[in-house]
Amino acid sequence: MSIAKHFDDMSYTAAPESDQEVRAWLALHQASFGHFINGQFVDGTHPFETREPATGKLLARVAQGSEADVGAAVAAARAAQSAWAALSGHQRARYLYALARAVQRHARLFAVLESLDNGKPIRESRDIDIPLVVRHFYHHAGWAQLQESEFADHEPIGVIGQIIPWNFPLLMLAWKVAPALALGNTVVLKPAEFTPLTATLFAQICQQIGLPAGVFNLVNGDGRTGAALVAHPGIDKIAFTGSTEVGRAIRNETAGSGKSLTLELGGKSPFIVFEDADLDGAIEGVVDAIWFNQGQVCCAGSRLLVQEGIAPEFLKKLRSRMDKLRLGDPLDKGIDMGALIDPVQVQRVRELVQVAVAEGATLHQFKGDLPGGDGSFFPPTLLCDVGPASTAVREEIFGPVLVCMTFRTPDEAVLLANNTRYGLAASIWSENISRALDVAPKIRAGVVWINATNLFDAATGFGGYRESGYGREGGREGAYEYLKPCAWTSKTKRIMAPPLAAAGQQALDGGLTIDKTTKLYIGGKQVRPDGNYSTAVFSPQGLRVGEVGAGNRKDIRNAVAAAHGAQGWSKATAHNRAQVLYYMAENLSERRQEFAANLVRYSDCSAAEALAEVDASVARLFSYGAWADKYEGAVHNPPLQGVVLAMHEPIGVVGVICPPEQPLLSFISLVAPLLAMGNCVVAVPSESQPLCATDFYQVLETSDLPGGVLNIVTGGSAELTKVLAQHDDVDALWVFHSQALSQMAQKLSIGNLKRTLVDDGRATDWLSPASEGRIWLRHAVQVKNIWIPYGD
Ligand code: NAI
Repeated sequence: MSIAKHFDDMSYTAAPESDQEVRAWLALHQASFGHFINGQFVDGTHPFETREPATGKLLARVAQGSEADVGAAVAAARAAQSAWAALSGHQRARYLYALARAVQRHARLFAVLESLDNGKPIRESRDIDIPLVVRHFYHHAGWAQLQESEFADHEPIGVIGQIIPWNFPLLMLAWKVAPALALGNTVVLKPAEFTPLTATLFAQICQQIGLPAGVFNLVNGDGRTGAALVAHPGIDKIAFTGSTEVGRAIRNETAGSGKSLTLELGGKSPFIVFEDADLDGAIEGVVDAIWFNQGQVCCAGSRLLVQEGIAPEFLKKLRSRMDKLRLGDPLDKGIDMGALIDPVQVQRVRELVQVAVAEGATLHQFKGDLPGGDGSFFPPTLLCDVGPASTAVREEIFGPVLVCMTFRTPDEAVLLANNTRYGLAASIWSENISRALDVAPKIRAGVVWINATNLFDAATGFGGYRESGYGREGGREGAYEYLKPCAWTSKTKRIMAPPLAAAGQQALDGGLTIDKTTKLYIGGKQVRPDGNYSTAVFSPQGLRVGEVGAGNRKDIRNAVAAAHGAQGWSKATAHNRAQVLYYMAENLSERRQEFAANLVRYSDCSAAEALAEVDASVARLFSYGAWADKYEGAVHNPPLQGVVLAMHEPIGVVGVICPPEQPLLSFISLVAPLLAMGNCVVAVPSESQPLCATDFYQVLETSDLPGGVLNIVTGGSAELTKVLAQHDDVDALWVFHSQALSQMAQKLSIGNLKRTLVDDGRATDWLSPASEGRIWLRHAVQVKNIWIPYGD
């Protein structure tokens, strides 16, 4: 008999981790848990059950949080927030450090409890989840320590509502709670109803280390409790991880409320294997990508894309590796896969596999025995012969199901990889580093792993593009999600001028002082508006100062198409973008007197104010020219042999609705950071003060800005905001207008979950230094983290 055959035949005996300590902990609490509010455990009503996924047995009864419970928790968090924020960074750092140490001391208790409640292998909870939790609290103790120097111009957001899913219960808690507390916020957390237990144990730890009452609050319950938290007026921000569907509902609910929102949603991440990959390494990568945590991972590599030439060999190896996976008791240290979260999830996954087969997929499933009893086990599954339109390729299955397609060229791999509405992660396998690094920036995803998969670290941001959500968790960019610029808190409500038509009615008798009729600026050309209507523009004194084109839906569509066509701008070098911005500044500077005189005519400012506004606009263009090659990414050093490149990428096509105040300077202050970072823009100038922006066409025409990079559509702000919000090819929308338009922009853009930056109707002083720089640049990019492990 060959040695290889011995290896194949070798059987494993069970190596169970003891559950004695956890059972004792459960017994001590009569396996019944309430909420943790204002530093105390409180009993709730309507207990629901949490069961062991691997056996179906009852584990504990848990309270269902009512609106009153949520209200009490929010009140406690509010009462605690200012004192918590007033502590020095060092004092807060010490609390986070104490939390890290305490979780570390009870690591095994946490790991066993997590595996029992969630069904994941102890190997994962012990070696991955809990160590990452600890690392997160340590890392964020560091941000607290450095807050005063590193985030001096920012302040905490306030009271944060956090809603987390069941796939990484304690890790998701850590990802949300650690940065929030570190930076001076207080928290009301709602864990997932399937997995509430490690959060309760964490609350005990908070009590043990003497965390001030009300800083961390926990309300258990299902989606109804989550919805009550989202709707509570005392919440300043919601941070959510879970399904895209619920993410959309939350976005709809919070729209226009002034609450900040970050969403970490689903994914359908590509796992790309080039023919020059280390195939055995890539096979182990697939195992980690889709069978880690039973495939219940938002960034799971669930779409395998294999280069055609190696596909037969690769799939043969993969099927053989699959059949050797070991499924069983999550507390058995030798297993690869445990149980899915609940019979409901098993049923959902089964149905999606059935749909795939009905649509023509070839099914290969794990051949071994599934554990018996009432556990929620599902076999590792591979679906081949699927196409880009197959349900199993488009939908997030959230189970141990891999779909496989082939490609011929790197370009085709990129096309297939990006053929999804999601954009969370991607994994690229090739021994040719040049190829891998060429492909990585082309994949629209927030995280890219090269010759690796499912790597996480507290210092490295995690989060998605497109329908995978927005906002980042971890690292500096994650810290900013729990802060707001100090300059933004003192803003006051903007006084809006009446819409054009109304103004026109009031001033029909006003004499025309200049014969000025402007068109739209689309694709680098001045074009007539589609509807061929113009609207009169009046000065505040009621004088008719000109007419602008009345842009409509079709004009916005044309402008968005032109912007898409100009996306080569994102590939222009930063040096090149800087040159164009400097050139724009120079050309505006040459027309300084003319622009200032016009400003006086259009608005009610003095000659000195007008000159100051023009000069500030020139300086701002220079500033963003300077920033173009200086607002750079970072290189992280996570605990692995390798580096992570945090790259600043443009968001894509961005719509901008401009405010009436300081109409030239505000227009430039909003558009320039977006251009500097490589975005293409569709700008809607102030409805009451549009002429400074249309005068700017001439500056653009002489400044070498490629056609389509900046498009300007004048017209009714409300109508044009609506079209931009609903347009699925617009990637982000900035609204600096009224509270009503902020709300409309957020509500109507849930289709593609575009990123929004809105001011909720509060005016900005555009002359202030806080109106330029990093605060704005941060919103003009999205961070892609590319993991590059190296070495033999
Ligand atoms: P879910 O999105 O419904 O639940 C996530 C969290 O949101 C839970 O704490 C839940 O109680 C809460 N929630 C539910 N409805 C809410 C509402 N209206 N307002 C506020 N909070 C609400 O996810 P679920 O039902 O547990 O799983 C369904 C599917 O979602 C899965 O099969 C999977 O496809 C996907 N999912 C994706 C996750 C990810 O990280 N991308 C995590 C969990 C689920």
